Amino acid sequence: MQNAIINVNGRLLKPENAKVSVYDRSYLYGDSLYEVMRTYDGRFFGLEEHLARLEKSAQLCRMILSQPTDEYREQILRTAEEYRKGDPGRDVYCRIVISRGEGRIGFSLSCLTTPTRYTIYVQPVEEPSDELARRGLSLQISRRWRNAPQALPPAMKSGNYLNNLLAYLEASAEGFDDALLCDYEGNLTEGTTFNIFYIRRGILVTPPLDVGILAGITRDKLIALARGQGLTVREIRFPPSRLFEADEVFVTSSIKEVFPVTRVDGKAVGGSGHAGKPGPLTRKLREEFRSHILSAVKA
Ligand SMILES: Cc1ncc(COP(=O)(O)O)c(C=O)c1O
Repeated sequence: MQNAIINVNGRLLKPENAKVSVYDRSYLYGDSLYEVMRTYDGRFFGLEEHLARLEKSAQLCRMILSQPTDEYREQILRTAEEYRKGDPGRDVYCRIVISRGEGRIGFSLSCLTTPTRYTIYVQPVEEPSDELARRGLSLQISRRWRNAPQALPPAMKSGNYLNNLLAYLEASAEGFDDALLCDYEGNLTEGTTFNIFYIRRGILVTPPLDVGILAGITRDKLIALARGQGLTVREIRFPPSRLFEADEVFVTSSIKEVFPVTRVDGKAVGGSGHAGKPGPLTRKLREEFRSHILSAVKA
């Protein structure tokens, strides 16, 4: 069983004792929200931003949270602290899942017999290996479209991740590390669990939020860091073919941070001298972003 502590509605439990009802709507309908974050030197990075995005997801999903945000914060910190008692010095991965609640089968809110329910998972963080960071990711452009914002808004981090999961499984079955998805018009949107950037002539380019993506917290912080250093960052729509003209390609997420992409659809990407290898600006941004995180958590 996973080395983890699970907080089920305020009760700290071992994973083997943590249970959710078969009538829970997260199980019946994927009717839930979630966030993933991690600690550095024992402190959470971006916790407030993750909590704010959780609230935004709740609005987009018409879910009335039964606890105030302060309680989620408190319970996340409490669970992480409890985990660290048994495994001090270890940084943790933390996932909070909020379900609309339990009740009879049926869409109507009148079927619900409980308010929203939460589960917090705290376990060791698994960072991508140094070997993978040296090699870079090999991504597939998925044949599957990203959910349209008018269908299931990607801005909402819901527990209904089948769109992303299927793209990942298909890419994985075909030998890729992961996948990028386009919208129905052929614009690149994002990866299954990460945002995408490319660099051309020193300019960073990433799809805009309104193409239909998750407002990545790492994306946002990296844009601010890059602009603060005088780099130009453009948020524009572009087709995946643009990645083959790029000098460098990378992705961002709370777990991957800034992570190089070196192959797309089996072809090496990157300018001459480093095609198929992590680019110099990506490596620099990766290091600088890590330093930014470490100083932010100390502040
Ligand atoms: C679809 C999707 N896009 C982007 C991201 C990156 O977001 P963040 O930087 O907030 O972790 C995630 C993270 O899970 C995601 O699931």
